[in-house]
Amino acid sequence: MLVVGAGQGLLVEALVAAGRGPVEAVDASPEMIEAARARRGVQVRLADAAALPYDRDAFGAVVVATGVLSGDPSETPILAELRRVLRRGGRGLIALYHPTPWQRRTLGRVGVLADGALRRDRMVALWAQPDAWPVLVARWTGRRKLSGADRRLLEALSQEMGPLAAALRARGQDPVDTLTRAFAAPVPACDPDTLGAWVAAAGLRLVDQQAEDEVHLAIVEPA
Ligand SMILES: C[S@@+](CC[C@H](N)C(=O)[O-])C[C@H]1O[C@@H](n2cnc3c(N)ncnc32)[C@H](O)[C@@H]1O
Repeated sequence: MLVVGAGQGLLVEALVAAGRGPVEAVDASPEMIEAARARRGVQVRLADAAALPYDRDAFGAVVVATGVLSGDPSETPILAELRRVLRRGGRGLIALYHPTPWQRRTLGRVGVLADGALRRDRMVALWAQPDAWPVLVARWTGRRKLSGADRRLLEALSQEMGPLAAALRARGQDPVDTLTRAFAAPVPACDPDTLGAWVAAAGLRLVDQQAEDEVHLAIVEPA
């Protein structure tokens, strides 16, 4: 089987421990590949998901990890590569980040989720300007006053961003710029029709789909 976006190798390690080996793995980031090798002894090949270094029909199972696909139509080349390396009768599992209903409600209250889309640029703006929280939330939602629950949510967002920002600064990157760019992807609509049409554009058929905590899973096969 193949793991695309194997990152620091957690999933590969778990699959091998569960007796699912041998597991091929690729990732586009040299830093993540080095982390997988140093921390877990897991070998990951450097490759982009849109140009996999494998033959047609090479695998019976392919996992596309979270962080590779976001459900956008522009990602058809990556889905087409998944289709190419997946043999007939094989299965692909695609993991998409997706907020839970509770996250949708709370993020909606402060305007980070608006018109069904997660506005990560707003998340970054809130994190970067804690003094401006009431002004920003009022601008986005029209709500003039923040409740205690709103403030706790915003504080939690800020704390989560802190270590990430420090790591980016240490690498000489501006955290606001980097995070705004990295978080630009929209949150996909994860209903069966939308996901079905998205994968069908690359010759795949949606077999099943399931919401997990913060992640939506789609199981596909060659159409
Ligand atoms: C959230 S991490 C996955 C973590 C991994 N499942 C694990 O078990 O450690 C997402 C990974 O996808 C990789 N990635 C994102 N886009 C990619 C692409 N187009 N091609 C290959 N890898 C990609 C990133 O470099 C990152 O390491």
